[in-house]
Amino acid sequence: MEATPEARTEVSLERTLEELLAVERFEPPAGFTRRRHIEADQAAADADPEGFWADAARDLLTWETPFTQVLDDSNPPFYTWFADGTLNLSVNCLDRHVAAGRGERVAFHWRGEEGERRDVTYARLLADTQAFANGLRQLGVQAGDVVGIFLPMIPEVAVAMLACARIGAVHNVVFGGFAPSAVAERMAVSEAKVLVTVDGARRKGKRAEVKAAVDAELGELPALAHIVVVRGPGEHPGVVPMTAGRDVWYDELLAAAEPDCPAVALPAEHPLFILYSSGSTAKPKGILHTTAGYLLGATYTHRMVFDIDADTDVYWCSADVGWITGHSYIVYGPLSNGATSVMYEGAPDYPDRDIWWRIIEEYRVTVFYTAPTAIRTCIKWGPEFPGRHDLSSLRVLGTVGEPINPKAWLWYHLVIGGGRCPIVDTWWQTETGSVLISPLAGVTATKPGSATRPLPGISPALFAEDGKPLTEGTGILVITRPWPSMLRTLYKDDERFVETYFSRFGPSTYVVGDAARLDADGYFWIIGRIDDVINVSGHRLSTAEVESAIVAHEAVAEAAVVAEPDEQTGQAIVAFVTLAGERIGDAEVEAQLRDHVARRIGKLARPRRIIWADDLPKTRSGKIMRRLLRDVAAGRELGDVTTLRDPAVMAVIADRVRGAR
Ligand code: WTA
Repeated sequence: MEATPEARTEVSLERTLEELLAVERFEPPAGFTRRRHIEADQAAADADPEGFWADAARDLLTWETPFTQVLDDSNPPFYTWFADGTLNLSVNCLDRHVAAGRGERVAFHWRGEEGERRDVTYARLLADTQAFANGLRQLGVQAGDVVGIFLPMIPEVAVAMLACARIGAVHNVVFGGFAPSAVAERMAVSEAKVLVTVDGARRKGKRAEVKAAVDAELGELPALAHIVVVRGPGEHPGVVPMTAGRDVWYDELLAAAEPDCPAVALPAEHPLFILYSSGSTAKPKGILHTTAGYLLGATYTHRMVFDIDADTDVYWCSADVGWITGHSYIVYGPLSNGATSVMYEGAPDYPDRDIWWRIIEEYRVTVFYTAPTAIRTCIKWGPEFPGRHDLSSLRVLGTVGEPINPKAWLWYHLVIGGGRCPIVDTWWQTETGSVLISPLAGVTATKPGSATRPLPGISPALFAEDGKPLTEGTGILVITRPWPSMLRTLYKDDERFVETYFSRFGPSTYVVGDAARLDADGYFWIIGRIDDVINVSGHRLSTAEVESAIVAHEAVAEAAVVAEPDEQTGQAIVAFVTLAGERIGDAEVEAQLRDHVARRIGKLARPRRIIWADDLPKTRSGKIMRRLLRDVAAGRELGDVTTLRDPAVMAVIADRVRGAR
């Protein structure tokens, strides 16, 4: 039988991928000019890390009062950087570019889900930021107050963040995919004074009435004085509930506000934002970042890792602003560097599965940054979707969020990058503020699946369980010296900050929570989390958080959640559930439970599988043995069950798992 042309391309792509799997090392392509600069940085950082960061801070940031102190490590692990300097972050992201005559440069090429286009210049962004900053002040917001932001991917999200920074308010952005109840919880724990949200949001042609849903969940929040409502893009069919005296429309606030809002010079260590992230307990951690050190990390790494030339590049990070990737690499890094970015509102498969590639072609995107899970989804859809478009403008590709398997790396390299673009596999965390381990585009030789080497000024190490440093092999990833963009604490919880990150090996060793392997070339290979954090499609979720959401359902007696490997999403959630009253679940309860989790946390936390158990495997002291549940979910041979209070429990569960498959 004759193969169709499409099938033939697929066969040859498969073959090329197979052949390339044998290639261990990809040399950096020629034509990148930053190499010498980075070699100089590396030498400077090796000789004197603090001096290196001080030079970078003077070089890359605009200060109101220059700093004289660099790192203060007199009270570890509470480090400060550049503490006697003052600056304003919005000046660094906006005013200085406008003042240099680049006001008409596009900051964001915004692309709506229905194909709408809006180009937002630096001058426009500055004008809106000033007006909104005045608006926030009118609502009573002062320096140090918390402002919640729950918005879709629209330019107003950047305006809201920058307006906070202009007046020293602390923003707390909640990912748009989280449930309104998660918004309410985060507003409550951070005692937000104002929440900025949207009337309604659209997703793949459907509409969600966001404001009404948030209202329904807010309950009594004594600190929350006002809600600002942005009119989102598209049609507005619903009636938006507005509470008199509390709720205001964003556009009305903006129109009535004074246009000029002189930036406040803030101390370098003034808090910039809180971002809640999952840890090993059900209570999310309020990761706190401060102004100068964070901005320095975002600015330096965005420029160096992606080899950004603000005069010529069109950069696109496909993440959501609600995650740290969006904070550092959609908003602060690119704007501080004066770059032009694409901001896209929609999903990768609406109106069709080629929309990302269409956008790259239309805007001639040169640097593209996405997640391995997205690449794997594109592989599943097939090469014909990118194949429809001219992707020759691309010159650098990046990934973030989870380890990338070599096959996905190679597919990205060949099908999207046309074999010519270096791939930067960037390892970092909400806590680290900016990328710490990554190839530098055009400088570092890459190995598919490895995040390669630390950036200048960053000192990771691998420790054995007993804290002995390893020079090769597998161990616990730590960072042995403070760096400017590290988290400063957990919001209003210094104790948990110390306990979580600095209790294991002392106050000068930051424990990352990942395991990694170090090879003979000094390249790092990140293996994954060693705590109870699950990484679904690059999104961090805590087992305890999902368990407590499940247990909150009236039918449930007990639940234990584990991760299983998944080809598409990296990891998927498996929940073992016992129901109250000796009931055994059925499809209906299962659907209810998944829906319940979606409402309490968000859709991404819904368990992939629910296994009904009569009892959970517990030690004699009552601790659930998740290791056994992981084994049984993966269909592995069960290890030692003799330490269980009731060893028979596992046999029943194993039977159920087999039945469910
Ligand atoms: C994982 C996202 C392997 C890791 C920026 C880390 C990665 C957690 C990579 C942080 C990568 C992130 N290779 N694993 N390139 N990037 N991770 O806080 O387990 O949402 O600890 O920050 O994601 O997730 P977070």
